Order: sequence, then C-alpha cells, then structure tokens
Amino acid sequence: MMMKIGLMCPMKEEAEFIAKQLERPHRLKLLGTQVQEGMWHNFHCIVMQSGLGKVAAAAGTQALIDTCQVGAVFVVGLAGALDPALRIGDIVIADELIQHDLDVRPLFDYTVIPDLGLKSIETDRSLRQAAFSAAEELAKKRFPTLFSEEVKTRFGLLIPQVKVGPVLTGDQFVSGDGTGRLRQLFPKALCVEMEGAAAAQVCLMNSVPLAVLRVISDRADHKAQFDFTGFLNEVAGKYGFALLDLLLSRHLSEDFREDYRPSGRQR
Ligand code: ADE
Repeated sequence: MMMKIGLMCPMKEEAEFIAKQLERPHRLKLLGTQVQEGMWHNFHCIVMQSGLGKVAAAAGTQALIDTCQVGAVFVVGLAGALDPALRIGDIVIADELIQHDLDVRPLFDYTVIPDLGLKSIETDRSLRQAAFSAAEELAKKRFPTLFSEEVKTRFGLLIPQVKVGPVLTGDQFVSGDGTGRLRQLFPKALCVEMEGAAAAQVCLMNSVPLAVLRVISDRADHKAQFDFTGFLNEVAGKYGFALLDLLLSRHLSEDFREDYRPSGRQR
C-alpha cells in the first residue's frame, strides 16, 4: 500500500529545519499551525509543528490523519533523560509510551487509559525498527561531520548511544524534584517528553502506525531548562533532520512511497 507520511515536531525550531528539506513544498492551513507538504527522498511527507503538550499533539495527529490522510506518523523531538546512563545527544526510540500524568485512581490503576484499558501504548514494530537502524547509522556514520568541533565541545556531544525502551509523556516540563519520583515509579523508563503518548493514543484509535524518536536534550534536572533551550536553538534541528534524512533515504519501506499530489485546504 502507498501512503503519505506525517512528520510531527512539537517545536518550531525543528519543524522549520525539516520542512526546508521538502521538494516542491506546499503550505497547508491546519489548526492555525505550520504545516508543509512536499516530497523528501520520493516519500510524500507532511511536516507539522504540533506545539507542545498532549492536547496539541492529539489534535495535530488527528488532523494529520483526517485532513492529510497520512498512513504513518513519526514524532520527532527532544526529551529529558531518566535513565542515568543516557547523555545529552543520545537517541531514544520508544517501544511503548506511558502517560505519567494520567491518574484515575481509585477507579483504574495509575496510567490506565480507561476506555482502552491500557497502561501503555506500543509503537509500530516495523516503523520503530526503521527508526532504530536510521539512528544507528547516524551514530556510526553521520555524526562525526554533523556538528562543528566547537558545538560538540560546548554541548559535550559524543557519538550518540541509541536505546529502545519505554518513554513517559505528560503535560509537564520535568526538572529537579519531579525526576526522582518518575524514576522510582517507572524504573525502566528511558526519558520523559510531552507529546508521544498522546500521538500514540490517537494513532491507536485510528489504526495508524506510529514511531517516536527522541534526542536527549537534558537530564530532567535543575539545569534542564538551560540545557533544553541551548540544545533546541543550536542542535535539535540538525539532529531531527539527519535522523529523518537517513530514515527516508535508506531505512523506511518502499511501501510508503507515493506520487505527490497536494492535499487538504490551501492557504
Ligand atoms: N523535553 C525535553 N526535555 C524535557 C523535560 N525535562 N521534561 C519534559 N519534556 C522534555
């Protein structure tokens, strides 16, 4: 089956960098946010800047599915590390996503989505495998030339580790005090962000496959906001671009290719 691919970034800095790579770009008016449609490595892509948080991610994902008819969604963005072995610049591919702020106790267990009866939502196996092999290739081949020595030194960037595991989502920027609690409650969680599980829930409800790729921007500690902001401004766009560039050029199945025909409402 051939289909369109939704590339969703919470932040403008990443979405703009990625949208610049599209050939024959075409702007869509959708939810009053930045959405660009075009071709990238012969894949028909829709790049959306969803905005931060679960509501924005859920609305954005549903709009990608309904208005743009995407058949797969990749969420690409930053995350705060929970696993102490993760360093800034490492890459996490989610195998499951958990809403750490969803608490309907005593009616349901902590993090259970009542109507679905699920504590977590799994990502699509083949999409996450494609994402993993793209991230591994980035680490092994692309990373050395991706950033200047000055940027690598300033951010302490080393050849990234690539890890697959559980990712937490919630409507909070986690820094300092909240981190220990999350580590205790979710000892296997690799990192925390603000959109993935919401996009995953919407994708599940629509039977659309999803993968979530996160680059560690901070350690969810007292310095998180400074690390996050610097990383976002100077590193994130290039990282997100390189990941998707490798994913689309070498790792995603040919089944997702399609002739480019602009869709949706036009500005
Ligand atoms: N995204 C990047 N860093 C984060 C943090 N510390 N908390 C939540 N989302 C994040």
